[in-house]
Amino acid sequence: MEIKKVGVVGCGQMGRGIAEVCARSGYPTMVVDVTQQLVDNGFEYINRSLSVGVKRGKMSEEDKNAAIGCLKGTVNINDLADCDLVIEATIESLDEKKKVFASLDKVCPPHVILASNTSCLSVLDMAIATGRPTQVLGMHFFNPVPMMKLVEIVRTIVTSDETIETAIAFGQSVDKTVVHAQDTPGFIVNRLLMPYLMNAIRMFEQGVATKEDIDQGMVLGCNHPMGPLTLLDLVGIDTAYYVSLAMYDEFKDPLCAPPTLLKKMVTAGHLGRKSGKGFYDYNK
Ligand code: 3HC
Repeated sequence: MEIKKVGVVGCGQMGRGIAEVCARSGYPTMVVDVTQQLVDNGFEYINRSLSVGVKRGKMSEEDKNAAIGCLKGTVNINDLADCDLVIEATIESLDEKKKVFASLDKVCPPHVILASNTSCLSVLDMAIATGRPTQVLGMHFFNPVPMMKLVEIVRTIVTSDETIETAIAFGQSVDKTVVHAQDTPGFIVNRLLMPYLMNAIRMFEQGVATKEDIDQGMVLGCNHPMGPLTLLDLVGIDTAYYVSLAMYDEFKDPLCAPPTLLKKMVTAGHLGRKSGKGFYDYNK
């Protein structure tokens, strides 16, 4: 199936990034969020990111304008009715995602493929909230989406081959490398990444080292592009909490259990870069 138009549900950190890469690749892209303010904020961010792309020589001013021309925002989910692929990128709550998928199923014609950008939740549970479970899959992008090369294609036990093939072709068409994962919490990357990140928080809690030294250790000792606590601030403290909790619920592996400090940071609203404060302060 050819994807001619893309819908994105959610204009937060991931949704706006996904919308940006779709628009950059020339797909007419409709982005929906619950308030106009959220849509406007997301589009402002995309605009800035495209300008950085121009400054860095990744695209011309004309490419930037063409990408902006591909993007439309809305607060009405019915506006997704003429999309061929809809990618959901809302909060990591299975109940919320199931509601979104049930609504999409009502709005979208039968041929439409529905994908979730979930980091860890059961894609099958979202699929069975629709009347088209064979056309539902996970498409998990990485943050920051315009700069990260990967998308995990997550197949449930009922996803059809045709859906997977269409998703692979689409992922490649937006300049991403595709890897395949089964529908288990954390898929490939988060299954490996989360225990590492949780361990870094535990080391900090236990006073093994300062946050700066933990980060420096992994940057200079392992050539990671950023240390674990900086990465947690980038990913979002709340996202990391929900992902690790979902993995702990399934595997009961103590390495996945969210440390007390992480939970308290979520309660305090210290959500990382997006809130201005996480392990580090971004208000300066
Ligand atoms: N548009 C297009 N390209 C851009 C851009 C933009 N807006 N901004 C920067 N770039 C390009 C730059 O030109 C540069 O390209 P080059 O390598 O060809 O020169 C490249 O992107 C890197 O840009 P910078 O030099 O500005 O940035 P850094 O080298 O500091 O890298 C980073 C930034 C890519 C964020 C790097 O720090 C990194 O890889 N960090 C780790 C990120 C990571 O691990 N993400 C995954 C998190 S887990 C996740 O998301 C899953 C979720 O479920 C939890």
